[in-house]
Amino acid sequence: MNSRKFAKVQGKLPGPKASAAVKSTAKYVSPSISRFYPLVVESAHGSLVKDVDGNQFIDFAAGIAVLSTGSTHPKVVEAVKRQAEKFIHFSYTDFYYDNLIQLSERLLPLIPGDGKKMVYYGNSGAEAIEAAMKLTRNHTKRPLFLAHSGAFHGRTMGALSLTASKPMQRKGALPLIPDVVHFPYPYCYRCPWKQTFPECDYYCVDYFKDQYLDKFVPVGDVASYFFEPIQGEGGYVPAPPEYFKKMEFLRKEGVLFVCDEIQTGVGRTGKFLGIEDYGIVPDVVTIAKGIASGLPLSATIAKAEIMESWKPGQHASTFGANPVAVEAALATLDVIESEKLLENARRLGDKAKKRFLEMKAKYEIVGDVRGKGLFVGVEIVKDKKTKARGDEEAARVVDYCFHHGVLVIFAGHNTLRFIPPLNVTEDVMDEGIDIMEEGIAVVNSATTKV
Ligand SMILES: Cc1ncc(COP(=O)(O)O)c(C=O)c1O
Repeated sequence: MNSRKFAKVQGKLPGPKASAAVKSTAKYVSPSISRFYPLVVESAHGSLVKDVDGNQFIDFAAGIAVLSTGSTHPKVVEAVKRQAEKFIHFSYTDFYYDNLIQLSERLLPLIPGDGKKMVYYGNSGAEAIEAAMKLTRNHTKRPLFLAHSGAFHGRTMGALSLTASKPMQRKGALPLIPDVVHFPYPYCYRCPWKQTFPECDYYCVDYFKDQYLDKFVPVGDVASYFFEPIQGEGGYVPAPPEYFKKMEFLRKEGVLFVCDEIQTGVGRTGKFLGIEDYGIVPDVVTIAKGIASGLPLSATIAKAEIMESWKPGQHASTFGANPVAVEAALATLDVIESEKLLENARRLGDKAKKRFLEMKAKYEIVGDVRGKGLFVGVEIVKDKKTKARGDEEAARVVDYCFHHGVLVIFAGHNTLRFIPPLNVTEDVMDEGIDIMEEGIAVVNSATTKV
């Protein structure tokens, strides 16, 4: 047993009960689910998680950016119970209920832009993206989509056509929707054009104009441009500050901007949406993950004139806007406001980033630190000079963290992601980052010794 206050791991992992659960899961559940390590959850509260063998972990993964208010926030639990006792489902595809109106009245004003907006509710991120694809095609009557390499927008066949972060996600599933043009994302640390920001003067935008629009993409056929303000699964990569403003020339050509806030949204970056730091107003915004603190709910929000191009029956989903999830979303918004979680994300995010930047100065394997609020990526490399991707090194750090009581996962191949619940407390966060640093130090000395 170690002497930590929060992270408490006894003996070897996985423990006996976890080992048995991992074995049984493999018997029944699709092998397409890939896991980072054998954590078998018994209970979770706030930013602490207990496994079935009694070990306790600090949660820096938040159910993949879902547990915005932490696990089992009392106000969320209370809201879920209250609604479950009234009615659990009634399908908003055919009937009405009130809390949907309340949620829309709370949510829509949080989306940038002055004009009237409307919302379509689904259950998952991919569903929100599917809706945005269909809606922007319906509205513009144009076939083409633009998306970035490195993008992640989901795994259903439409969303997967936009996703381009790992070949495995598409392996054996082709053909997808053919009318998608991918072009490079401005990943400044690994600039595809070997330029340096800001001296490059956004060469990436010129390249897109010269090599795509001037060569083979008929811009008048493009319905919409899908982007993440900070790429998530692609490696926690923020676009440089003026990038989306510089891409706005596309709007003059009638291309709709769809901002995927499924991972960056709901306060993660210290603002309600990640795009707020970029000074543009998207036409469509997709939200999921953190909106209902763990219950399945997604929202595709569009300017009213766009949403109104859909006619009754054109799109729906039986489970969309489940009333229990809607009540959890209302409680989530209450908690974010009353507990000042955006401020917490900014304050603790700045502190965490400072710690990771100090590690970058200290350790050869920390190549880059980036992100905003409690959405921070630490890219692990073999050495700073070549920037060779440190896939195995990152895996060893993640493994060290798990065995010492911190849940950290990757983004992309070699970026550690730091996404604790938005209400993580400073003492829990500090202890978790200390353990991450120990892991980085151990792997760094093993890597740089040879
Ligand atoms: C930016 C982004 N878009 C879409 C999705 C897909 O969401 P879901 O897994 O809920 O379908 C994800 C999931 O990680 C995501 O990060």
